Amino acid sequence: AYVITEPCIDVKDGACTLACPADCIYEGGRMFYIHPGECINCGLCLSICPVDAIHYDQELPEAARRFETINRDFFGPE
Ligand code: F3S
Repeated sequence: AYVITEPCIDVKDGACTLACPADCIYEGGRMFYIHPGECINCGLCLSICPVDAIHYDQELPEAARRFETINRDFFGPE
């Protein structure tokens, strides 16, 4: 699944939600979050974010790895 990371905080551009065909990107507090179970791995959100906050989970920079958990936990236990 794709993951939203730190640069989204307090920016919340929202363009990613328009690009997402699965409607799996949700606004919450200071950033947006991708639902890992609903994400279809299409990658359409990736390049549209003006602050490059979105990464594929397998390609997360080390400093952003914690956001995989942060995105998942936003939606609570399965
Ligand atoms: Fe955030 Fe970028 Fe989407 S700033 S709301 S991840 S377009």
